[in-house]
Amino acid sequence: MSLVWFMLCSGFVHFTFSTNRLRIFNFTGTPGKNWSDSLQECKMDPSASLVTLYDEEDFTFVINFLTDIGHDKTAWFGLHKHKQPHRVATWSNGEPFKCNHSNVNLANGTQRCGAIENKTWADFNCSDQLSFMCYKDDVFTLIENENRNWCEALQYCRRHYTDLVTISNETQHQQVIDKGKNDTFWIGLMYDEWKWADNSCSTFRTWGKDLKESSECAILSHSGSSMIERACDERSHTLCSKGK
Ligand SMILES: *[C@@H]1O[C@H](CO)[C@@H](O)[C@H](O)[C@H]1NC(C)=O
Ligand SMILES: *[C@@H]1O[C@H](CO)[C@@H](O)[C@H](O)[C@H]1NC(C)=O
Ligand SMILES: *[C@@H]1O[C@H](CO)[C@@H](O)[C@H](O)[C@H]1NC(C)=O
Ligand SMILES: *[C@@H]1O[C@H](CO)[C@@H](O)[C@H](O)[C@H]1NC(C)=O
Ligand SMILES: *[C@@H]1O[C@H](CO)[C@@H](O)[C@H](O)[C@H]1NC(C)=O
Ligand SMILES: *[C@@H]1O[C@H](CO)[C@@H](O)[C@H](O)[C@H]1NC(C)=O
Ligand SMILES: *[C@@H]1O[C@H](CO)[C@@H](O)[C@H](O)[C@H]1NC(C)=O
Ligand SMILES: *[C@@H]1O[C@H](CO)[C@@H](O)[C@H](O)[C@H]1NC(C)=O
Repeated sequence: MSLVWFMLCSGFVHFTFSTNRLRIFNFTGTPGKNWSDSLQECKMDPSASLVTLYDEEDFTFVINFLTDIGHDKTAWFGLHKHKQPHRVATWSNGEPFKCNHSNVNLANGTQRCGAIENKTWADFNCSDQLSFMCYKDDVFTLIENENRNWCEALQYCRRHYTDLVTISNETQHQQVIDKGKNDTFWIGLMYDEWKWADNSCSTFRTWGKDLKESSECAILSHSGSSMIERACDERSHTLCSKGK
């Protein structure tokens, strides 16, 4: 499905051209950088960042890449925890989340996305396909019969309206319920301890079983077929990408 070019000019550089996005993976051969220094290195190119993985195809590509380079290779990628570990609920439009009614259990790297179901707040697997509600100015619009996962819904709203809907007070809550009929639909709420360095919306995760919960950054290793938590001050290789 994807065309892959190898370029051996400045170290290891891979280009992948997928149907819907152009990605450039830039692996810098010098190990021994902590997570934030790795991010800085990627950002020397303003349009680049530590790698964001969108799907199994990306993941396989990167694992194969690390395998090709040789044994013992690990690399930082873009996932890291929110600065305040308790701040796990975020609105997609950046408004602070002020409500306290979240009983969402995020153990073991889980990610949940907010929805309205039967007129009450609910949370679902972000990969589920639901209707969704967008807003523009003061107008809320329910998009039905075009079910999407949460990230796709967000993209749709940002393209055609402003964003997924945010509920910051009782008035808005009532408007959303009224516009939502009795449907089950996404709102702009996401629960996740982790986020991508470039703020991309990607729900792709392949955490290993023995997730320790204590570390704040994550590596990929060719020897494990999963994402692995690591303390951010450990040292690893740098894996950059740009485009999406
Ligand atoms: C890859 O990273 C190196 C070191 O940061 C940089 O010099 C080079 O320009 C990068 N290549 C691409 C294609 O971004
Ligand atoms: C939310 O809960 C936290 C901890 O349980 C508490 O400290 C805080 O005061 C609560 N905020 C509101 C607005 O109720
Ligand atoms: C998290 O992982 C641990 C160890 O694998 C397991 O015992 C526990 O049940 C998991 N918790 C959840 C909420 O999945
Ligand atoms: C929502 O309503 C439907 C139909 O009335 C019902 O089947 C379903 O169990 C309800 N779901 C919840 C979470 O209450
Ligand atoms: C969410 O749904 C996807 C696809 O249906 C599934 O692969 C994944 O394991 C689910 N995640 C959780 C945490 O249940
Ligand atoms: C509810 O929040 C919206 C957006 O923040 C604001 O425009 C509106 O005035 C608020 N309404 C009330 C009654 O607080
Ligand atoms: C919504 O559900 C209630 C019962 O839960 C029902 O009385 C009402 O007719 C439904 N409204 C719509 C628009 O389907
Ligand atoms: C990463 O290393 C730099 C020095 O190279 C240091 O200034 C910084 O505090 C380190 N960050 C972490 C999170 O360890």
